[in-house]
Amino acid sequence: MKVAVIGTGYVGLVAGTCFADMGNDVICVDIDEKKIKTLNEGKVPIYEPGLDKLIKKNVSAKKLIFTTNFDDAIRKSEVIFIAVGTPPKPKGDADLSYVENVARGIASVAKKPKIVVEKSTVPVQTCKRIMQVLDCNEGDDNGKCIKHLVVSNPEFLREGSAVDDFLHPDRIVVGTDDEKAEKVMDKLYKPLNSKILFTDIQSAELIKHASNSFLATKISFINAVANVCEKTGADIEKVAEGMGLDDRIGRNFLNAGIGYGGFCFPKDVEAFIRISDKNGYDFKLLKEVQAVNKGQRELFLKKIEDSIWNLNGKTIGVLGLAFKPNTDDMRFAPSIDIINTLLEEGAKVKAYDPEAMGRAKTIFKDKIEYCDDMYAVPKDVDALLFLTEWDEFKKIDLEKVKKMMKQPFVFDGRNMFNPKDMRAMGFKYESIGRL
Ligand code: UGA
Repeated sequence: MKVAVIGTGYVGLVAGTCFADMGNDVICVDIDEKKIKTLNEGKVPIYEPGLDKLIKKNVSAKKLIFTTNFDDAIRKSEVIFIAVGTPPKPKGDADLSYVENVARGIASVAKKPKIVVEKSTVPVQTCKRIMQVLDCNEGDDNGKCIKHLVVSNPEFLREGSAVDDFLHPDRIVVGTDDEKAEKVMDKLYKPLNSKILFTDIQSAELIKHASNSFLATKISFINAVANVCEKTGADIEKVAEGMGLDDRIGRNFLNAGIGYGGFCFPKDVEAFIRISDKNGYDFKLLKEVQAVNKGQRELFLKKIEDSIWNLNGKTIGVLGLAFKPNTDDMRFAPSIDIINTLLEEGAKVKAYDPEAMGRAKTIFKDKIEYCDDMYAVPKDVDALLFLTEWDEFKKIDLEKVKKMMKQPFVFDGRNMFNPKDMRAMGFKYESIGRL
């Protein structure tokens, strides 16, 4: 099948590459010439396990093309995926102007009917708007109005396991009111052998925001329970295990910590609150989810202050900056709020992350010290914080770390170590939801 993917952000790049790997002829389009040049040189602008190999393989097989030529891509393709960004506006609503521009572009360029698939995360009823724009087209070569078809096909991949998630999804959601579009989408996804749920367009759109908001709710719930554990002497790991054994609950996304971050959950929870509000429903539950999430960072900082007293003049080591392991992404990472507060309080911060150092430098500039490896961080610090659960940190030589620290305070925001073992080694150790 001939496929165009407009937008080479996380979703577009992974989807385009995987569709090519599934045997389609894919043209990925972006307006960013520098990015397209980088991709054509075989370099991948994001850190995502397995993606670079797959891109190289499909570019050399000529199944995958990167270009800035939008018109050419539209004319040559049967199915067009819109995967441009929908960043939050100041009040939290998604900015849909890029989506509208793409739809306008398709309407003015296409001379034959296309299947236009909305893949970016958008509010419910966006496809209606896209359809409205597409219906206002300049017509075919004889000037006859073209009837394009619009499909909603939200994406559920996670950063850090994006390729695997795309190729082995739990479910594929396709929202369409048209039989032809349903058949084409079925054929496109057939090689994945995965369950496809066909729905009406509005339901498909809503499934995306509802899913992300539910997962964020699960995280805030377990974090709230962790806070009760700390006050009652219970152990959140055991509580989560016991809850998770119930199939209806499940153990996934019950890891207590310093709260969720990343570009998706914070943005999508806020957007879902706004969508509900605009449609006359006050989604108070999600507002509380946000409040608990913010509170987790504050409680973590309070633990540090309660233990080491004044932060002014203290040196704090930070291991882990990315919003989660296996990504270099720091958007809305808890580390940003935590480090900024430490700096405001007058602390010196030295930090290391296996992949996010480049991104961290653009955020903190010269306000913190950047270390070349994880063992450079504990040297002479008053406290060591673990903010991302990278595998290499789990294997860190703790004896060596302890000898380097000025005082042995460890604050584990991801429950990576066993409290008893840490204390037996002589650390003053604090984690989340465990005494
Ligand atoms: C999330 C969803 O999981 C994907 O299904 C969705 O497609 C994606 O958003 C999106 O909308 O594009 P992602 O943001 O990559 O994926 O990351 P997650 O693995 O979901 O983690 C999000 C945050 O929650 C991280 O900060 C993580 O540390 C935190 N988290 C996760 C917890 O604090 N506890 C948990 O138990 C699980």
